[in-house]
Amino acid sequence: MAIRTIRQEEDEILRKKAREVDCIDEKIKTLIDDMVETMHKYDGLGLAAPQVGVLKRIVVIDLYDDKGVIVLINPVIKKEKGVQVVEEGCLSFPNKFAKVERPEQITIEALNINGEKIKLTGKGLLAQAIAHEIDHLNGEVFIDKILPGTLEIVKQEEQGK
Ligand code: NI
Repeated sequence: MAIRTIRQEEDEILRKKAREVDCIDEKIKTLIDDMVETMHKYDGLGLAAPQVGVLKRIVVIDLYDDKGVIVLINPVIKKEKGVQVVEEGCLSFPNKFAKVERPEQITIEALNINGEKIKLTGKGLLAQAIAHEIDHLNGEVFIDKILPGTLEIVKQEEQGK
């Protein structure tokens, strides 16, 4: 396992569409392990493969609750319901926070790390995290959809980490 470098806001790879994973081999499993380790190291709630420079449709999420780490390979949104206005940040934009609109509930299908098809419905924070991370797979970042006037830029010394 290894910590990978998180691509930052100017990096063009964050704007590119990721490709589907066709075979969950050892290389993909190592990538997923590294993504989980990297997400935990920086206290993130989620991380998408393009953020570590790999244009593959892989997402990891950890809300630090009883669900544990969620790995989604080739996730596809099946249903969205409602709208929530939420405060959001991103490991690729470490000093920026803003409000965005996200679905209140989202249902997706994906493969898990064993290649098994899973269906998952998330509400609230989980719906937000899934929507944010799937955006990354499509080359979209939260900063493009912030609600006007809600952007906060936190200076390094105020971050307290
Ligand atoms: Ni992000």
